[in-house]
Amino acid sequence: MESKPVLRGNVLMTVNPMGLKQEIQNQIDYVKSQGHYEGPKKVLVLGASSSYGLATRITTAFGAGADTIGVSYDKGPRSEKNLGTPGWYNNVFFRQAAEKEGLVAKNFVGDAFSQALKDDVVHYIKEEFGGKVDLVVYSLATGRRTDPETGETYHSAIKSIGQEVVGPNINLQKEELYEEVLEPASEEEIEATVKVMGGEDWYGWIKLLKEADVLAEGVQTVIYSYLGSDLNRSYYQDGTLGRAKADCDEKAEWINQELEYLGGKAQVVVATAVTTKASAVIPFFPIYCIALYKVMAERGTHETPIMHQDRIYRDMVYGNQAAYDDKGRLRPDLWELDPEVQAQTEALIKEITPDNFKTDLTAYDLLWHEFLNLNGFDVDGDDAQEAVSLDDLKALEA
Ligand code: NAI
Repeated sequence: MESKPVLRGNVLMTVNPMGLKQEIQNQIDYVKSQGHYEGPKKVLVLGASSSYGLATRITTAFGAGADTIGVSYDKGPRSEKNLGTPGWYNNVFFRQAAEKEGLVAKNFVGDAFSQALKDDVVHYIKEEFGGKVDLVVYSLATGRRTDPETGETYHSAIKSIGQEVVGPNINLQKEELYEEVLEPASEEEIEATVKVMGGEDWYGWIKLLKEADVLAEGVQTVIYSYLGSDLNRSYYQDGTLGRAKADCDEKAEWINQELEYLGGKAQVVVATAVTTKASAVIPFFPIYCIALYKVMAERGTHETPIMHQDRIYRDMVYGNQAAYDDKGRLRPDLWELDPEVQAQTEALIKEITPDNFKTDLTAYDLLWHEFLNLNGFDVDGDDAQEAVSLDDLKALEA
């Protein structure tokens, strides 16, 4: 069975399972090459099956030796045409690798917003995971959320606020540059985006875990945010996603109050721009990325999710190199926001045209390679092309 990349717009529809297995191994190898660090021991990652959440799980497990619980929304293989989502395989291959090293790795595949899944996770922590967690990471990225209390479903809208934004974007399916027009969001769309991508559900999880008495003394909890710069302010920080991220800042304060009695801490981690399923569909963002990556790669500061997350936990959250801003947010994104990096990125963006965006002028090739890697294609070291059948894949256990 051979799988090839098939795209719909900026979404990769197909998956190469054995490439994902190799990609997980590559990330584990990266973390191991950095050595062991003293970190968390019992970790819950919400949104654990891809990019930032997966990288968090890998660094805490293979860097700090943590047992982990991963929650994600994924689908397994159904037919040769529908092999499921990459996250489903990431869960399986992560678990296999972790268990080989004697680590507990439990996967919950379902809706993290639902009460039923929350209850299942609490039950598992109490009965089988030693009773407490010492790190809770919130790394969900999604377009919809059903509030279990009201039954209402919210759909996020990645839009600007108060102004139309016009600019070049990349269609990865056609490998073409086109002019995108982003209409400003309505009040309802702003509110819905905050409901889906803001901090309410993070707060809900922590309250529930606290009430169930499954948070360890000194527990830490982290949520990932993005601020960006003036180059993407109009469609990110000043847009609907920016509102959602501001809501996370507020909820971090609430959570810090909840955790005071345990000496616990909630942190918003402002992470760097990376190639993920979620970021590929942010309007204009791919243009910013191919310019930014070019500049940062030349300076030796470009990072993939595993490099970034490993640095965050090893050096910052559990190390002594943490840099905070005046709102108490952790700022591993300072390499991206370096004024020289931003000035060079801005100059490069101005040079980009439909004819040259795929040339060496930009880091288009790097973005494309990282994008394909997300679904197991073009993975470094995946040369053997291990033959697998649909039955082999169906026999895998989540
Ligand atoms: P992603 O799309 O790669 O991963 C999202 C994860 O959430 C997946 O594991 C998915 O299965 C899970 N998920 C989605 N809906 C779910 C549900 N209802 N129940 C359970 N699991 C669900 O996203 P990415 O890019 O890793 O984003 C994670 C966080 O990092 C987001 O908050 C994002 O805003 C933030 N971030 C991303 C940056 C980027 O450049 N990609 C930069 C800075 C922050």
